[in-house]
Order: sequence, then structure tokens, then C-alpha cells
Amino acid sequence: MELKKQGDFGLMTQSLANWQGRKEWFFNREHTDTYEQWYEGRYKRAEVWQKKVMAQLLAKDPEVKELLEFGCGTARFTRWWHEIGIEATGADLSPFMLGQAVHLFKGGLANADSHYMPFKDNSFDTVAFITTFEYYRDPVQVIREAARVARRGIAFGMMNRNSPKVLRRRVQQLFGKNPFYVTATFYTPNLLIQKINEALKGRNYSLEWTCTGLPKWFPVQQWSVPVGDFFGLYVKFND
Ligand SMILES: C[S@@+](CC[C@H](N)C(=O)[O-])C[C@H]1O[C@@H](n2cnc3c(N)ncnc32)[C@H](O)[C@@H]1O
Repeated sequence: MELKKQGDFGLMTQSLANWQGRKEWFFNREHTDTYEQWYEGRYKRAEVWQKKVMAQLLAKDPEVKELLEFGCGTARFTRWWHEIGIEATGADLSPFMLGQAVHLFKGGLANADSHYMPFKDNSFDTVAFITTFEYYRDPVQVIREAARVARRGIAFGMMNRNSPKVLRRRVQQLFGKNPFYVTATFYTPNLLIQKINEALKGRNYSLEWTCTGLPKWFPVQQWSVPVGDFFGLYVKFND
């Protein structure tokens, strides 16, 4: 049987509004189809700084050339990595998010769960997670999977628990106004480091992190204080 051309992929999801009865926002087209628009509007400034901090962290290891981004969503970051000289592949659990990604990103994509990465050991230099780790049921298992698949390190870009926006999101959620974080766990750099230390016991690695997502009027937009809406953290394997 002949496979359909890539351009037809989106048609598969056109009449399907929900994936297998799942309640999470990323299994509902009502939310996935407008995801990209957010970052073209009021979140643009946040995205610029998120990319800036991730680029800085990855620049510390110039040998990183091939990256696997898990929880890639619509490929918002996946299609950007090449701008900093990195070839990327994306993977995500949601067929709807991938249904968008396939039109926006030229590279390879896989439909898979971060807890069970269908890739061989040491397949990529780095595994990256951008605003997806918050949704993982078993963060230690995911870090172990990433450490198995990655040769050089793991990159995290996350919403920070130490941010006034977290309280705002939870209050909105209480009134049924914000479906995006119902199943999310927010971490601080320290809480994430605890999970990394548990997952990578016995390994030799170094850690670096930085925060951004500070108000526009604030004198700095990035610092090494664990406060701000977003933080980037890089784990570099030394063994
Ligand atoms: C907030 S979006 C982030 C998407 C993209 N990384 C970005 O920064 O725009 C979170 C993504 O994580 C994905 N996700 C949630 N749980 C997952 C899992 N267990 N394995 C893989 N992807 C998952 C969702 O489908 C969604 O696309």
C-alpha cells in the first residue's frame, strides 16, 4: 500500500476533536490548534528570552550537534535549534501537537512517551525538554531514559515554581479558566536538581542553571537567582 504524502497528515486530525477520551489540553484540538498563536502574540518576549538562555547553556558544550527534543509539541523550539548549529529531531505524546509540527518542521518526528523513549542507547548528543517536563508522571524515570539515549547531556527549559504567575494560574484553574496546568507539577531549579541527583546516582555530571521570565520593567531579564517564570538547566555528563 502506498503511504500518503506528508501534506495529508493534518487531514487525519481534522474531524477528530479529542484523542481517546483524554482530558489533558494537549489531547484536545480546541487547545492544540491555537497553541502556536500564543507565542506570536503576548508571549513573544518570553519566548525570545527562553531561547536566549537555552542557547547560552548549550553553548557551554560546543560538541553538541545532534539533539532529540522530547515533548516537542508543535516544534516551536525544534525548528529553532538549527539556528544555533544543532540538528534536531522531535518526539511528543500528542498526535494533535505533532499534526501541527509536521507542517512546521522539516526534520524527523516520533509519536512517543518520554517515559519510554523508542531510541537506542547513546543515539543523540543531548536530549532536551522544553516546558514539557512539568507534565511527567515519573520524572526520575524520564531523566534515566534521557541519560540512556543522550551521550553528552540533558537540557531542561521549564516553568519555575518560584513565580507569581504560578499562583495566578492555580487561581484561574480553580475557576475553570485555565486548563493548561491541571496535570502539571511546577519545579524550582532545586527541586529539579533533587530529581536529577536521584535519577543519576553513580554518574559523574555537572549542572548549570539560569532564570528568566522577569517583568519587563525589572532592571535585569536574566539572573542566577531562582526566581522568574522560566529557568534553563543543563546537565553535562563528565563520564
Ligand atoms: C507546553 S507543551 C510544550 C511544547 C514545546 N516543547 C514548546 O515549548 O512549545 C507540552 C508538550 O508536552 C507533551 N507531553 C506531555 N506529556 C508527555 C509525555 N509523557 N511524553 C511526551 N510528550 C509529552 C504534550 O503533548 C505537549 O506537546
